[in-house]
Amino acid sequence: MSQSTASPVVEVQNLRVRRGRRRVLHDVSLTIPRGSITGLLGPSGCGKTTLMRCIVGTQIVESGDVRALGHPAGSATLRHRIGYVTQAPSIYSDISVRENVAYFAALYGRDRADVEQAVAAVGLGPQARQRGDQLSGGQQTRASLACALVAQPELLVLDEPTVGLDPVLRVELWQQFHALAANGTTLLVSSHVMDEAEHCDQLLLLREGHLLAQLSPRDLRARTGEQNLETAFLTLITIGSDT
Ligand SMILES: Nc1ncnc2c1ncn2[C@@H]1O[C@H](COP(=O)(O)OP(=O)(O)OP(=O)(O)O)[C@@H](O)[C@H]1O
Ligand SMILES: [Mg+2]
Repeated sequence: MSQSTASPVVEVQNLRVRRGRRRVLHDVSLTIPRGSITGLLGPSGCGKTTLMRCIVGTQIVESGDVRALGHPAGSATLRHRIGYVTQAPSIYSDISVRENVAYFAALYGRDRADVEQAVAAVGLGPQARQRGDQLSGGQQTRASLACALVAQPELLVLDEPTVGLDPVLRVELWQQFHALAANGTTLLVSSHVMDEAEHCDQLLLLREGHLLAQLSPRDLRARTGEQNLETAFLTLITIGSDT
């Protein structure tokens, strides 16, 4: 988990976003270093998906600046360099897992070996020939992830990738994320369960559209005096914070 001091992969400054008539992100500023795993944590509805959409360039923003890999979010040049796995699995239902992954491999100039590697990485080897609509919910999630992995993007944005997965698979996926980060991939992973925070190099703690803090799990414990990260987050909410 090397954290380089080079320019950050993601830089967000004073980001404000409205959805419908409400402001859902309030002056959010953050940076994400290369080759790290950043956990985006906060309760349902706090703005995690919205923030991710801003970073991958699919969200209209009210004001502020969002840059990824040195370019304004949404730039055409970033299309092949950022992988985004949405909260709802998005695979083709009428073709097999392998064919889904192969489709993305073709788009991104990857070969058959890359396809097999991505399928294996998410533990779907035995289901490789099953159609998308013949998969369980967790398997669909993993198939979506394989489609993103096969592109080998520099930045992987994963919206709640471990929801609906059993504990063994969750551990395996986190191992996979660590291996990717060790090889220089930058990961932004959202979750609303704090036990996943343990796996992250740094945490972005979001509440009601406000970024409460950007810090490591160790610093969160130190700041709050709480060992349990869930309790620490709750303590941070009550004591307030400055990031
Ligand atoms: N299309 C939309 N139109 C209006 N408001 C929206 C829309 N999508 C989301 N919102 C609102 O924006 C806020 C942030 O939503 P967002 O999806 O970013 O939350 P989240 O943290 O990802 O939640 P969850 O953990 O449930 O996925 C919520 O209050 C939500 O109701
Ligand atoms: Mg969400």
